[in-house]
Amino acid sequence: MGKVTVYDHPLIHHKLTILRNKDTSVKDFRELIGEIAMFMCYEATRDLPTEEIEVETPVAPGKFRALSGKMLAVVPILRAGLGMVDGMIAMIPSAKIGHIGLYRDPDTLEPVEYYCKLPTDISEREVFVVDPMLATGGSASAAITFLKEHGCKSIRLMNIIAAPEGIAVVQQQHPDVDIYVAAVDECLNDHGYIVPGLGDAGDRIFGTK
Ligand code: PRP
Ligand code: URA
Repeated sequence: MGKVTVYDHPLIHHKLTILRNKDTSVKDFRELIGEIAMFMCYEATRDLPTEEIEVETPVAPGKFRALSGKMLAVVPILRAGLGMVDGMIAMIPSAKIGHIGLYRDPDTLEPVEYYCKLPTDISEREVFVVDPMLATGGSASAAITFLKEHGCKSIRLMNIIAAPEGIAVVQQQHPDVDIYVAAVDECLNDHGYIVPGLGDAGDRIFGTK
């Protein structure tokens, strides 16, 4: 079963509280999503392997730690996942970026795919799927299935807010995937929105409602 990491950091929770407020402006919302993604990335990469490499400082040669192992990729689920990309890249600037476009059918709540562009070497990379919201889990599960069909073997999922239902679905369908979330909320409402959540993340990032 994949590990679920729920963040406990005061700065993340302070920013998340502002994010939840319905009166927070589009500008502030967008900035906060990016900042939270950056903090989350810092923690979600804690176990990346390192190796000692030789470096000559201006004073003396020595052996120092640097990242080793697989190269990285960030895959936002469009649209709302785009809001997390800059924060991720601030932490892991060499990562390549793939895009998977999915929207939730408002009636069935099933994900509908409309776009995909992945780095050609995605199967060789450690992949971080990012999307602010994990509600029913349908979109995240479909994106992860899609990445596995493209040969990805090592995938992590990062969401800012998750519903228990969404975590359960991803764990059941993808037990090999570790999940990183800033908060686990109470439940889903009849429209599949996370309660209390923050509303429609895509609309709040892009100002479309
Ligand atoms: C939202 C969100 C997730 C999905 C979560 O996207 O960004 O992708 O819903 O719901 P689920 O876990 O029930 O699948 P939405 O479909 O609203 O598209 P958007 O990002 O383009 O607004
Ligand atoms: N998608 C969102 O943007 N918000 C929710 O609460 C659920 C799905």
